[in-house]
This record gives sequence, C-alpha cells and structure tokens, in this order.
Amino acid sequence: MSTFDAHQLHGVVSVWSANLDELPCRRDLLSSDELVRSERFHTQQLRDRYIAGRSWLRSVLGVASGAPPASLQFRYLALGKPVLDRPANSLDFSLAHSADVALLAVGGPGALGVDVERVRAGVYEPASADLVLSADELRWIERHADRDRAFLRCWVRKEAYAKVGGMGMDRHLSNLTLTGPRAVDEVGGLAISDVAFDDSLAAAIAVPVDQSFTYRGRWLAEEAA
Ligand SMILES: CC(C)(COP(=O)(O)OP(=O)(O)OC[C@H]1O[C@@H](n2cnc3c(N)ncnc32)[C@H](O)[C@@H]1OP(=O)(O)O)[C@@H](O)C(=O)NCCC(=O)NCCS
Repeated sequence: MSTFDAHQLHGVVSVWSANLDELPCRRDLLSSDELVRSERFHTQQLRDRYIAGRSWLRSVLGVASGAPPASLQFRYLALGKPVLDRPANSLDFSLAHSADVALLAVGGPGALGVDVERVRAGVYEPASADLVLSADELRWIERHADRDRAFLRCWVRKEAYAKVGGMGMDRHLSNLTLTGPRAVDEVGGLAISDVAFDDSLAAAIAVPVDQSFTYRGRWLAEEAA
C-alpha cells in the first residue's frame, strides 16, 4: 500500500529519499532496454542499485499516473534525461543517486531537477571545480572549514538546475551563482532550493517558480509496488 495518492501531487512537487540497498530489485517491472542497461554496470552491487532505483521510480510513477508500473514507457532526451512517454500526461520527475542513497522528485506540470551527494572527504578539487562553479561560489567555498561539504552544496544546486532541461554539467554553468551571499534563488523561471533532511548528504531541487515542493520522508521498502 502506498503512502500517497495521485491527487496529493497536484501543485506540489513531492520528494522522497531511499536507500537503494534496501529497496527491492523488481526486474519484472523493468523494460528490456533497462535490463540491458543494467548489465553494463561492472559490479553486482551497482547493477542491483540501478534496478532498485528504476523499480522505485516505476512504482512511484505508477501510483502518480494510475498505470501499472511495468507498463510505463520512457523516452530519452539527447543527453539522457528520461521522460514519461506512456501514459502521456504532464507529470515530470527527477531521480538522483549517490552510492546507496537516492532522491526522487515527482510533480508537474513543468520540468524538475534534483541532485543528491553523500558528503565525503577529498571531493573538493579547486582545479576542476571552476569548470562549473562561478568565482563567487569558489570564494564562498574557500571561506568554509569544511570545504568538501561547501563544494557539494554548490554542486548539487548546479546539477539540480542542469537536470531540469536535461543538460550535462558543462562550462556554461560557471556563469551562474546559485550558492553564497550573491546567489540567485530563481533563474530562468526556476526556483532553486536545498533539500535539507540528513547532515551526511547535500541535496537540492529546482522546480518551476510557481510551484513548491515538500519532502515526504524516506521511502520504505514495503511501500514499493
Ligand atoms: C545528468 C548528469 C549531470 C547526472 O549525473 P550523475 O550525478 O552521475 O547522476 P545522478 O545520480 O544525479 O542522476 C542520474 C539520473 O538522472 C537521470 N538523468 C540521466 N541523464 C540526465 C540528464 N541529462 N538530465 C536530467 N536527468 C538525467 C536518470 O534518471 C539517471 O538515473 P537512472 O539512469 O538510474 O534512471 C550526467 O549524467 C551528465 O552530465 N549527463 C549528460 C551527458 C553526458 O555528459 N554524458 C557523459 C557521461 S560519461
């Protein structure tokens, strides 16, 4: 039994977190192209996490769209963003994962983006950070004792923004300041927000400015279809 109904999604973007190692791997829900893709991962753990993530995505979108999870069909934008093709509707979603943790946002109309990263030592490398972070963001990071965490806070906001339009993390993002005292919270019709629910993670979401989001908590294994 799911803890939400489709009508709860109207006007508010719902966000859940999950532990991919605890969610069921429902291969029976996946399409043949998803199963082929799962085989490209080099370890069983990575294969299982991909299958668990896609099973979860299909289960949630099944409730949201009113269609059986296995019947959902995705199409892919040029740089890999999945979009719900069948059943046709105005739902959008965004999935992100970092090691065992995943974040899923579902809402619409309008495109969404989320990102999550486990905070880890040594992730901040000034020499490569300037590819996507602005000079203001880099200065903001340097003022922090925990630069790895500060870097990831900047990174997830940039990536959430990039994922809305199905883009990659490329150089044009360094023209934009989304974190720090001179940051903009709205850009291109999107509102960028932190999703703060766990100190060991950095997470952010980008939604259309006329919509809000709510974090609905951790998705438990027994909630999956
Ligand atoms: C989009 C992108 C920034 C996400 O990177 P990431 O941090 O590794 O992945 P995340 O966990 O945040 O998100 C992955 C999920 O986002 C979705 N996704 C994939 N590409 C996407 C894109 N371009 N835009 C939005 N969402 C995308 C998928 O649902 C994917 O999960 P799934 O395949 O398990 O369903 C990255 O894949 C990227 O830059 N893609 C552009 C194409 C590219 O440069 N490819 C070269 C990769 S070697």
